[in-house]
Parts: sequence; C-alpha cells; structure tokens
Amino acid sequence: EMQVQKVVLNSRPGTNGAPVPENFRLEEATLAPDLKDGEVLVRTLYLSVDPYMRCRMNEDTGAEYLTPWQLSECVDGGGVGVVQSSRCSACTEGDVVTSFNWPWQTFAVMKGSVLQKVDPQLVDGHLSYFLGAIGITGLTALLGIREKGNVTKGANQTMVVSGAAGACGSIAGQIGRLDGCVRVVGICGSDEKCRALVEDLGFSAAINYRQEDVPARLKECCPGGVDVYFDNVGGTISDTVIAQMNNGGHVILCGQISQYNKDVPYPPPLSDETQDTLRSKNITRERFTVLNYMNKADAALCELSQWVKSGQIKVLETVVNGIGSMGDAFCSMMKGGNIGKQIIKISE
Ligand SMILES: NC(=O)c1ccc[n+]([C@@H]2O[C@H](COP(=O)([O-])OP(=O)(O)OC[C@H]3O[C@@H](n4cnc5c(N)ncnc54)[C@H](OP(=O)(O)O)[C@@H]3O)[C@@H](O)[C@H]2O)c1
Repeated sequence: EMQVQKVVLNSRPGTNGAPVPENFRLEEATLAPDLKDGEVLVRTLYLSVDPYMRCRMNEDTGAEYLTPWQLSECVDGGGVGVVQSSRCSACTEGDVVTSFNWPWQTFAVMKGSVLQKVDPQLVDGHLSYFLGAIGITGLTALLGIREKGNVTKGANQTMVVSGAAGACGSIAGQIGRLDGCVRVVGICGSDEKCRALVEDLGFSAAINYRQEDVPARLKECCPGGVDVYFDNVGGTISDTVIAQMNNGGHVILCGQISQYNKDVPYPPPLSDETQDTLRSKNITRERFTVLNYMNKADAALCELSQWVKSGQIKVLETVVNGIGSMGDAFCSMMKGGNIGKQIIKISE
C-alpha cells in the first residue's frame, strides 16, 4: 500500500462566477499494492492547468467532448510523468509518458492504453514542455495558424495575437513571424508581459489592454490594417481587432477566455456590428479545435522541437511547486497570473 496526495473538486463556481482555490480540496489516498493486467504505476512530474477546465467545473460543460468533473472526485487534465512499474506491454519502467486525463495525484495507477510514450530528446530534457510548447498549446498555435491563418511568405501580412503572453499566444506570435508575417502585434494584460513579447520573443509591438487605448494603439502598431488575427480571448478586444481587419482577412478562432466565466454557449455570439464587418470584408472565422487535427501532431511536434532547439522559438513558463498549489495555479492562470505556460511541478 502506498500513500499519495490527490486534488478533488470541492465545489463548483457560481454561474457567471470566477473559480476560486476553495473549489478544490487536497486529500490523502492509498494506492493498492498490486497492478492488474494492463495497468501502469506512474509518478507525476508536471501537471497542466488550462482554460477549458473552467467548463469542466460546471455541471454541464456545454461541449459534448468535455465531461464535467464530479464533486469529491479526483480532478484530471494534461500531465507528464515517469513509469515506476508496468503490467502493460507498451510501457517499461523509466519511460516518460503523457496523458490528457492524468489524475491530479502525486502517483497514480493508470491504464496503459491512456498513456502516450514520449521521447525526452524532443524537449532536450525539459519535460514540462510536453504540456506546452512541445505539447497541446504548441500544437494549437502551429496547427491553428496552418489550418486557418492563410499566412503566406512575401504577402506583407500583419498578424495580431490576443492573449499574446499566454501559452498558445506566445508561441503563435513567434510562428507568425517564422511563417512570414512582416509584423506581429500582441495584446496582453501587463507591461511586464508587453516587455517580454517585444524584447524576448521578437514581437513587433505589444499593447497592454488594461492600461492603453486599444483601438488607438492598434492603428499605430498596424498602419496597414490587420490581415490575420489569432484570437484567444473574444469579447471587446476581439471586436476592436476585427474592426481594423483588411478585406479577405482570417480570424483563427482559438479561444474566447474573456467569456469562460459566463453562462454562454461556445463560441459566444458576436455583436451585429462585428458580424457585419466579417461579412462585408469577406473575413473568415471558422471554429478551430486542435483535437480534430491530431493526425498532424507528430510532424508538427517535430517542427516545434526543431524551432525550440535552434532558438528560433523561445519558451516561457510560469512554474509553481507542489500538488497543493493546483487550485491556486488554475485560478491565477484564469486571471492572467502566468507568463507563458502555467506549469505545476509535482516531483523531480
Ligand atoms: N482551439 C483549441 O483547440 C484550443 C486548445 C488550447 C487552448 N485553447 C484556447 O486558447 C486560449 C489560451 O489558452 P492557454 O492555455 O494558452 O492559456 P493562457 O493564454 O496561457 O492563459 C490564459 C490567459 O488569458 C488571459 N485572460 C484571462 N482573462 C482575460 C480577459 N477577460 N480578457 C483578456 N484576456 C484574458 C490572461 O492573460 P492577460 O494577462 O493577457 O489577461 C491569461 O494569462 C484559451 O481561450 C483556450 O481556451 C484552444
């Protein structure tokens, strides 16, 4: 028998409410000593907190592919860890594995069939990158741009990224530059984030939406208008960007985090004015879901890995320690406490 710690859902946020750390509770648990056929004992190294989890906190997630977390049950999401022992032929002791349904637990017994074995060489030993730049948020940035962005070298395009200092946004802006946009402008929530975007990640300019006049600064930073918009946030910021888009532009509808604490469907309805702009300027805005493109994941992860190894893409992370920090880290990320990918380190 083995003592472990786990995080369970303690309560649900109110309708239209922001999540609070007290929605989560830390508990002790014991793991059975013996593995059954097909099972694997894993030690958790890193866990991910992600905006979509806000939907899993509701009794009804509003999306058929997302199941709600149950009260008093262990919470789960993206994780990476190492195999301690295995009764599954696909895994052996020492393998590094990931899953989208990793329990928020220090050690766990999982079915081998839900684990993906990964190659630590892809991340030069930075195993937390499997949850971010060389994982789902990196894939979202790359495949979102490739599938929906119509970025073309030599076409003199300007890209705007909202949520630009976050996990997806910080990678998306760098890929926009590498794929040939002549100008990449980020919108984010602090001066420190703006500085990182321009000085560390090579964005052309950055706008702090909490402090600055966004329409005026966008005009200044995008004198030729906006051709491609990587949208992580929705709401007023997106109305403002779309109003400055050029004919034939493309919105990459990645996410709408400004609306996730509200009881609205996904994607949330647009104002009449914004809908008119899209129609009259022939701007595309198709829903993008990275999970629909996983057949392209392996090639995309190789491309991301090469860019990171060569230094052409810089990876930013905000790392906190310990399973007891999960609730705090999730709530902090939802209000902008992170630069780059929010990671929780569970063990060495
Ligand atoms: N389509 C897909 O398949 C897919 C896959 C993964 C993620 N996503 C989406 O991508 C987006 C980013 O996810 P991520 O994992 O990379 O998270 P993230 O950007 O690292 O973290 C969330 C960020 O959202 C910003 N934010 C919070 N409330 C806001 C508001 N009211 N207005 C503007 N910005 C706000 C905060 O930064 P500030 O300081 O700038 O406010 C915060 O840091 C989310 O919308 C997510 O749902 C989509």
